[in-house]
Amino acid sequence: MSKIIDGKQVAANVKETVRLRAVEFEKSHGRKVGLAVVKAGDDPASAIYVRNKIKACEACNIASFSYYFDSGVTEAQLLELISALNDDKNVDGILVQLPLPKGIDERRVLSAIAPEKDADGFHALNAGKLFLGEATGSVACTPRGIIELIKSTGEDICGKHAVVVGRSNIVGKPVAMLLLQNNATVTICHSKTTGLSDITRTADILVAAVGKKKFITRDMVKKGAIVIDVGMNRDDEGLFGDVDFEGVKDVAGYITPVPGGVGPMTIAMLLMNTVDGARA
Ligand code: GUN
Repeated sequence: MSKIIDGKQVAANVKETVRLRAVEFEKSHGRKVGLAVVKAGDDPASAIYVRNKIKACEACNIASFSYYFDSGVTEAQLLELISALNDDKNVDGILVQLPLPKGIDERRVLSAIAPEKDADGFHALNAGKLFLGEATGSVACTPRGIIELIKSTGEDICGKHAVVVGRSNIVGKPVAMLLLQNNATVTICHSKTTGLSDITRTADILVAAVGKKKFITRDMVKKGAIVIDVGMNRDDEGLFGDVDFEGVKDVAGYITPVPGGVGPMTIAMLLMNTVDGARA
């Protein structure tokens, strides 16, 4: 009798708020909120994400400007484009889809984005503000969406033990910071953690962001836990999360499906970051 968290529905509510704000912005500023989307290389998953992000912009009255490069793009070309976008008054948010082609320094490219146009919250200044608990920066979209999904259950985060499996810069580390801000007791686990399942079994909130199909199994989950599955693992059999959904769903109190859980929230929060950036 576990409860499935409907990410599409929660995302639809967020996007409606974004749309209303974007319409109001257009009325008061005489132009639409604008998001620039930069994609380089031929990663098939990135192509899907970018397409979905652009579609979502249309639905929310946000103008999107797309820039696609093949995998031969140079770092200098990307830096030149970002510099122009930083100066473009019609662009409120800039998103560089990751991963970038081999040989390009992602950190250098992301750092070139003006922090106030950093729709993804990946710039070191915004990551640092999150670390310091300063509310003026943009926060990475997936982590921000995860917190909304947890809150949508009506359960209080305060005082709970949250275990994050995965320590990436775009999910694991920032979601741990947000959970801490919400007064959870946070444990970050990763591929070198010993006794992983002993730790995950103590989690009231379990965030799986490891990138391994069905990595979290039933025996690793505490009865009644809120389980958030960030995994997007594609293979010949389809799209799978990091959680063995069928095995875990009966023991969890709440669980996000893949697809239809975290994914739609990432996009909704990207649009929220963009419209918030425009209004600021
Ligand atoms: N690649 C995987 N997830 C993301 C994301 O949230 N933003 C960007 N820009 N690239 C990604």
